[in-house]
Amino acid sequence: MTAAWLKLIHVAALSAWCAGLIFLPGLIRRQARPDLAEEGGVHLRGFVRACYLMVVSPAAVIAIGSGMALLFVREAFAGWMFVKLAAVGAMVMLHVHHGRAIRTTGRRVPRAPALEAILLQLATVGLVLAVLWLALGKPDLDDSLFPDWARRPRPAAA
Ligand code: HEM
Repeated sequence: MTAAWLKLIHVAALSAWCAGLIFLPGLIRRQARPDLAEEGGVHLRGFVRACYLMVVSPAAVIAIGSGMALLFVREAFAGWMFVKLAAVGAMVMLHVHHGRAIRTTGRRVPRAPALEAILLQLATVGLVLAVLWLALGKPDLDDSLFPDWARRPRPAAA
């Protein structure tokens, strides 16, 4: 029962997080446009900031927290989970990147904002699809995929 509730919370939160990671680059790019620098830009900047701080970031915290809880409740310590965690780490880096971009918009104008937004969106969609494939397919990943140091227990301190 606990696992079912945790999974419900996990899936609801990660849907909001993934959606946010996909739409934020487009909105951040829009707010950097000089023709939106006046009144419209101020509203858009407030909206993007509020989305990031009040929706997307809390959703990320809840998705990761419930995922961590599920990890122990379901004892899902398998190869696919460790690859999934690496992909989630990359999603966290994108999240932090968006936070920095929101903070510096107006001060730092990217050289090719449209290209940057498209690349970020493609990277996000690729990562989300990879994580979904790992979580839903639970592929049986062989131990040999992992480097030697990751398969051996750490030697005891002398
Ligand atoms: C630190 C982050 C995360 C951790 C520790 C985590 C961990 C877990 C665990 C332990 C489960 C239960 C697996 C099972 O029932 O056997 C699960 C389910 C799931 N996770 Fe995550 N997860 C994380 C982030 C994500 C993200 C970012 C996504 C999607 C982009 C995602 C997608 C899913 C899906 C779709 C399921 C349901 C799988 C099923 O019912 O078969 N997770 N997660």
